[in-house]
Amino acid sequence: MFYTRLGELPPKRHIQFRQPDGSLYAEELVSSRGFSGVYSNLYHVYPPTRVKQVGKPQPFGTKIKEDYPLLQTHLKTAGEGLTGHDYLHGRRMLMKNSDVAIGICNIPAGSRMPFFYKNAEADEVIYIHDGSGRLYSQFGVIDVRKGDYVVIPRTTIYRFDFDNEGDMVRLLVIEAANPIETPQRYRNELGQLLEHSPFAERDIRPPHELITETEKGDYLVKIKKGNYLHQYHYEHSPMDLVGWDGYLYPFAFSIYDFEPITGRIHQPPPVHQTFHSDGFVICSFVPRLFDYHPQAIPAPYNHSNIDSDEVLFYAEGNFMSRKGIDRGSFTLHPGGLPHGPHPGTVEKSIGKKETNEYAVMVDTFRPLYLTEEAMAYVDENYPMSWTE
Ligand SMILES: [Fe+2]
Repeated sequence: MFYTRLGELPPKRHIQFRQPDGSLYAEELVSSRGFSGVYSNLYHVYPPTRVKQVGKPQPFGTKIKEDYPLLQTHLKTAGEGLTGHDYLHGRRMLMKNSDVAIGICNIPAGSRMPFFYKNAEADEVIYIHDGSGRLYSQFGVIDVRKGDYVVIPRTTIYRFDFDNEGDMVRLLVIEAANPIETPQRYRNELGQLLEHSPFAERDIRPPHELITETEKGDYLVKIKKGNYLHQYHYEHSPMDLVGWDGYLYPFAFSIYDFEPITGRIHQPPPVHQTFHSDGFVICSFVPRLFDYHPQAIPAPYNHSNIDSDEVLFYAEGNFMSRKGIDRGSFTLHPGGLPHGPHPGTVEKSIGKKETNEYAVMVDTFRPLYLTEEAMAYVDENYPMSWTE
């Protein structure tokens, strides 16, 4: 991330900064990794600690499916309709471990959140599969559209307003127990993205418009922590900032702005890496020219991922190496079994010049577990689909 500022700020941190009526603005330091990670300083009209009422927590957890065997797994989520009517209850989390949870959220076009939300225990990456709208957070507004990864650091209070277009808003939801960061090998020692990075700072869209709400009322913030949604009511809007600065803030990055790295022979998956989090990576597969060695095989080779579980979410296009996979499908290729192209697809790939696929990959370093909710989508035929 890079230094960003919006709104009004005092000339130094931790000094007097007064409102027009002479009272002090309330400074809030939001810091990550204790005091060692990125942070921002926020200036509120009202103290962020002032709570009006705490309601009854609502259960909001996901159960792991016990005894699911070691299997190549295809989740047929492509044809799924609405999974709920709001941004939180529409979430259907399908896979998880202690580092990451992955799911979908299909909600009606035009959905607007009548409450605010804060994930107190995970950074969230919301990939906009279908839909567009605006993210309203304490840090300001970000316009979001199809193909965006919207990265929201934990404790950010926010809501989404989605536009009323298309039949449905489809989201891929990734919750990260540790911070989401750009890959270290693409940054210099001062954090700037290097020349060989497949994206640069100009591709990252921080909040662009600060909204300062000062009217009093009843403002509900649903806070996710420990398998519950905790109901916090405030007399003031959480969107009461007059300014903030720092390195910690939500941002959007479009998969359409990811510049693919290609080669004469097949490039390994790390060239597609987009984000890092302790315990997993997120990669973007985007349209690109295929390998150009005269004897190159564009289809991937068989692969034994001995210490990671690989999830692919098929976002757009034709998936050359997989049969029976549709837009919106997930595959999970767990460590312990080799995976590879489907029969016939290797020969068929030879001579192909380019691909038009978009896919999001999540590779985890600890085993992933399917949830009970995922069972409804399991394709029973997939484990044997390499057998002719
Ligand atoms: Fe693989």
